[in-house]
Amino acid sequence: MTVTFYVPQDAAALSVGADEVVEAIRLEAGRRGIAARVIRNGSRGLFWLEPLVEVATPAGRIAYGPVAPEDVPALFDAGMAEGRGGLGPTEDLPFLKAQTRFTFARCGVIAPLSLADYAAMDGWKGLARAIAMEPAAIVAEVTKSGLRGRGGAGFPTGIKWKTVLDAPGAKKYIVANADEGDSGTFADRMLMEGDPFHLIEGMAIAGLAVGAEHGYIYTRSEYPHAIAIMQAAIGLARDAGYLGASVMGSGRAFDMEIRAGAGAYVCGEETALLESIEGKRGQVRAKPPLPAHEGLFGYPTVINNILSLTAVPFILDKGAETYANVGFGRSRGTMPIQLAGNIAHGGLFEIGFGITLGELVNEVGGGTASGKPVKAVQVGGPLGAYFPPALFDTPFDYEAFAHAGGLIGHGGIVVFDDSVDMAKQARFAMDFCAIESCGKCTPCRIGSTRGVETIDKIIAGRDVAANITLVEDLCETMKFGSLCALGGFTPYPVLSALHHFPDDFAKAPRAQAAE
Ligand SMILES: Cc1cc2nc3c(=O)[nH]c(=O)nc-3n(C[C@H](O)[C@H](O)[C@H](O)COP(=O)(O)O)c2cc1C
Ligand code: SF4
Repeated sequence: MTVTFYVPQDAAALSVGADEVVEAIRLEAGRRGIAARVIRNGSRGLFWLEPLVEVATPAGRIAYGPVAPEDVPALFDAGMAEGRGGLGPTEDLPFLKAQTRFTFARCGVIAPLSLADYAAMDGWKGLARAIAMEPAAIVAEVTKSGLRGRGGAGFPTGIKWKTVLDAPGAKKYIVANADEGDSGTFADRMLMEGDPFHLIEGMAIAGLAVGAEHGYIYTRSEYPHAIAIMQAAIGLARDAGYLGASVMGSGRAFDMEIRAGAGAYVCGEETALLESIEGKRGQVRAKPPLPAHEGLFGYPTVINNILSLTAVPFILDKGAETYANVGFGRSRGTMPIQLAGNIAHGGLFEIGFGITLGELVNEVGGGTASGKPVKAVQVGGPLGAYFPPALFDTPFDYEAFAHAGGLIGHGGIVVFDDSVDMAKQARFAMDFCAIESCGKCTPCRIGSTRGVETIDKIIAGRDVAANITLVEDLCETMKFGSLCALGGFTPYPVLSALHHFPDDFAKAPRAQAAE
């Protein structure tokens, strides 16, 4: 009898030795005369257990992790090949069991490039339904689901698609934003590496909905595994007729290609991204015109984060109401939340909006990895606010976060223990803005550098009160005078650090963060 092992080929698993574990399993199985088949799946998103090895048994898959190559002989001794020992059934692991996986249902379960696996788990059903619908009806279904953009701004996806559908244009484009520059985020990468046909299906539906025949996936060269898998998946989907001149025999065309940028944070901003695809320097365009009216190469363009696009096949297949029935307030459906930083159980946790920040950090994430008390969490990437534990009852919801002076962004949560110095974090936010600024507008280009200098004076204990006032004033200018959210939102981390952790700004003079 052949024993089937699953070992992820996701970059996170590879970084902690998944390839070496595969070698060890093959070697040990061979030594014992056990016929072994190793399937390289995506990650389940339980990063503290990577490399997570699963063994197929009649009772489902049994999980083992984290597995080091040198653990493998002992695991075989303990009956791993028969599914004995280990962590029990993977699906019963509390971190997985507590999730509502609409978008990540297949991730970590299927072999990423198996068309058969994809189809067996509801793949292409949303696209098949879309083919049978009028474009306006597809757009209406997405609007009804309440889906909001997962790239940061939370803009209603249906409204964006309707704008492009209604825009006159000889051509239209779909652009999938997979630049994923936010700190502590990895959902886009995990999805491309673990379930690549899903993105292809979401983009094809978007194409049918607005009348676009060509799409681009924009990602960063820092994601080589995702690029290789997506590239292979596009080829397979094309050969199988899911892409090309007649998508699933519909007579309607849609095809796509990948563009990799060098990895500049600002190239995730939609207009800088378009410049980058067009082969220019990644600099923000003034709006209007909106990309929906005049986007890529001047044509009406849908730009969506890939989590927005991959929510759509589920919506089309299971119905807008099924999606909209989950959620909180005006935030409908699920959010793939990414737990990172100093956290015991880091990884991907997809759940309906409404779970509180405290539940996420303390219950799901198990508190800090260091075992020290949590001091702050930054939510929503480098432009997101720092939240103290006093705000942990904030529900994960666009409006509730805005009300608390923060943002959800792409769903990244970075946890810090009580050893963090929040004045240095404020400096880091300004420094990040100075380094990543595209240079187009003065408040961001110059303001961020002045911000670093002023926070350095505060850290050095020079005219602290006056310099804090100056930083607040500078933040006001950046917030209202910047062309895009890089300069406009940098005040969020700076001011939240200042307001929630004032003691860190009034300490004795100390070395600067850069040292
Ligand atoms: C500086 C900056 C960086 C951004 N980076 C990303 C990114 O990496 N991925 C992303 O999807 N959106 C990013 N955005 C938001 C995009 O401009 C845009 O709102 C988004 O791609 C729209 O897709 P959605 O409606 O599906 O969210 C960024 C915005 C700014 C201002
Ligand atoms: S805010 Fe910064 S990144 Fe945005 S357009 Fe201005 S200079 Fe460029």
